[in-house]
Amino acid sequence: GLERDLAGRHVVISAGGTREPLDPVRFLGNHSSGKQGYALAATAAARGARVTLLSANATLPDPAGVDVVHVSTALQLREAALKAVLDADAVVMAAAVADFRPAEYATGKIKKVDGVDQPPITLVRNPDILAELSADRARPGQLVVGFAAETDDVLANGRAKLARKGCDLLVVNEVGGGKAFGQDTNAAVLLGADGAEVAVPDGPKEALADRIWDEVVARLG
Ligand code: PMT
Repeated sequence: GLERDLAGRHVVISAGGTREPLDPVRFLGNHSSGKQGYALAATAAARGARVTLLSANATLPDPAGVDVVHVSTALQLREAALKAVLDADAVVMAAAVADFRPAEYATGKIKKVDGVDQPPITLVRNPDILAELSADRARPGQLVVGFAAETDDVLANGRAKLARKGCDLLVVNEVGGGKAFGQDTNAAVLLGADGAEVAVPDGPKEALADRIWDEVVARLG
């Protein structure tokens, strides 16, 4: 990553985890810290890119020289992403996005009800932002990169996810058991729609980020 091989490029990165509110005090969320997405932003900036970072609830400091857009829910992330990718050369979706959100938002704090031990929470599907960005490229030749967070059958699930999402590259990482979420290191296999498979051993999240940018640069030509 010493070369400024992303100079003149605009890259969009999502980071962190969405929060889907139930009421003014509660949400459905996940354990993403934003570290992997912020590492992608910092390394891209170091390689000369103009960087837009869509940050979902991360509490990390804004990386120097990066345009940071703070969002919270999946719907807000989608809005910000659709706008940011319009003139982007590449987009990397590292955020952990909730697949579902509560169907109803209660404007007052939800109360316990006597005799009701299993209160129903109805969920509805969130839009799949990565699939949408992949299907409707904002620009010809725009490169779309997704992540896959898997707890089991990691590679098989990753390959299936690559086909389903329609992105150019999928970064498959194992989660659960203290892996990836919140850690300073990560390991992954990069799967290309072109059949490429690159194993990246456990190391700093910046090192994985740089390997991802290597693959992006190679495909941007
Ligand atoms: O933030 P850290 O603590 O550093 O942890 C990093 C990480 C584990 C969160 C990161 O490396 C990671 O795996 N991010 C993706 C998490 C995720 O939501 O994976 P998924 O397999 O559920 O989703 C697959 C892909 O579709 C992802 O690129 C996701 O951003 C995208 N997606 C998912 C659902 C949805 N409704 N819209 C989406 O765009």
